[in-house]
Formats: sequence, C-alpha cells, structure tokens
Amino acid sequence: MKEIIKLDNIKRDFRVGDETVHALRGVSFTIHEGEFVTIMGTSGSGKSTLLNTLGCLDTPTSGEYYLDGVSVRTMGKNARATLRNRKIGFVFQSYNLLPKTTAVENVELPLMYNPNYSAAKRKEKAVNALIAVGLGDRLEHKSNQMSGGQMQRVAIARALVNDPAVILADEATGNLDTRTSFEILVLFQKLHAEGRTIIFVTHNPEISGYSSRNITLRDGHVTSDMVNTNVLDAAEVLARLPKNDD
Ligand SMILES: Nc1ncnc2c1ncn2[C@@H]1O[C@H](COP(=O)(O)OP(=O)(O)O)[C@@H](O)[C@H]1O
Ligand SMILES: [Mg+2]
Repeated sequence: MKEIIKLDNIKRDFRVGDETVHALRGVSFTIHEGEFVTIMGTSGSGKSTLLNTLGCLDTPTSGEYYLDGVSVRTMGKNARATLRNRKIGFVFQSYNLLPKTTAVENVELPLMYNPNYSAAKRKEKAVNALIAVGLGDRLEHKSNQMSGGQMQRVAIARALVNDPAVILADEATGNLDTRTSFEILVLFQKLHAEGRTIIFVTHNPEISGYSSRNITLRDGHVTSDMVNTNVLDAAEVLARLPKNDD
C-alpha cells in the first residue's frame, strides 16, 4: 500500500517565557493508505501538536514530514495551504461549522478554493458527501437547527468533499453522548471500510478498539505502536445501546 504519511524524527518545541516546552521529542512513523489509526495519550502528551503538524497547521522545530510523497518542510506557505486544502480533511471536537449556514453551504466551503469547480459541481459534490454521511434529508438545515451528532456529520461531509488523502479527527466524539459517539464511530468505520485513511486523536482508550492501529504518545514520545488484530464493530455495540429517547 501507498505511504500517505511519513514522519521522521519530528520535534516541536514551544518557548514559554524563558522555558522551553518539548511537545514532540522525536516522533517517527509511517501510515499507509487505508489505515484507521487512533492516536492516544493523556492530556499534554502532544496529541494536538502532532495532529496540527500532520494537518500542516503547525511547523515542526526539526524533522521531516512527507504527505502523500511531498516534503512539507520545504514548501512555501501558499503551497502548503493548497496541499492542506486538497489532501486533508479535518474534523474537530467543536464541529467548526459556520452558524446560520446550511449543511450544503458548509460542505461546499473547501471547494471554494478550487477554481476547477463550477457552482453546480460544488453543490453536486456537497450533496453527495452529505448523502454519504446519512444527511440526505437535512441538506438545507442550518447549523443551529441541528443536533451535535448531525453537526458532526456535516463536519465529516465537509472533510470528505475534496476526496482527501487523509482524514484527521481531533477528539471528534468528545462533545457527544455515548449513543451519538457510537453513531459517529459507525460512520468512521464505514469510511474506513470504503478505503479511507483516518487518523483519530483521542484521550479515550475505548475508541482504540474500533481502529486498525493504535499509537500511544507520552510526554512527546511514541511509547507504543500496535496493529489491532481484533477490531470491534461499532454497529454491533450501537444496536445494544438504549435509544436516546427511551
Ligand atoms: N502553542 C503552545 N505554546 C506553548 N506550549 C504549548 C503550545 N501548544 C502546546 N503546548 C504544550 O505542549 C504540550 C503538548 O500539548 P498538546 O499537544 O496540546 O497535548 P494534548 O493534545 O495531548 O493534550 C503541553 O505541555 C502543552 O502545554
Ligand atoms: Mg489536545
């Protein structure tokens, strides 16, 4: 399988006053196309810094990062922004949708930066992405008219719409109740089964059981990196959970 992400000895220091915080102390791993990886670790272990690095939102102090074969370090700011827009779909804990804006409009947003798409094509792609996450009947709903789970589905559709090389999720179920979390996990497992590459950052070790590989961070180091040979089925667990309105 193709290498989508290759990190080689990534370090990230932050200066805070006259102290240096070593958020990442030499992280190396390779992620191949089609993997569903959870990155775990307690608060402060470096998860968000790592995800920001993978998402080209933050620049490492040293080390090499190759995204889909391209060295990110050597790129200029504009090239990096384009790479980010085309290659990466982000899903955040807080959804980050535009308020008072419809699902379709939110999902169309990443396509606005691509001059190859007409307005009609943008809409078509947004509608298809929303259908793929189970929101075909909520296309014109505004963000403030939706539940947390629905908003997160819109965010996932927005992450998918550019057909990215990798989907990066930071605590994507962190604001959701148990049942809704499992509904979102079912969706991530479906996307994985369809061949998507997913990196899911979480402080919740339970989530790791549903992904195919588990990386653990501690104090900016990778302390374990394991293939999960017994991937649990989120749909099975969901079927046994009580309904929210029971
Ligand atoms: N912008 C920043 N400035 C200073 N320190 C930071 C910054 N971002 C993160 N850190 C520090 O780096 C370490 C790792 O943080 P973070 O990546 O947010 O961990 P996690 O997401 O696992 O909770 C922490 O000690 C945090 O305080
Ligand atoms: Mg974090």
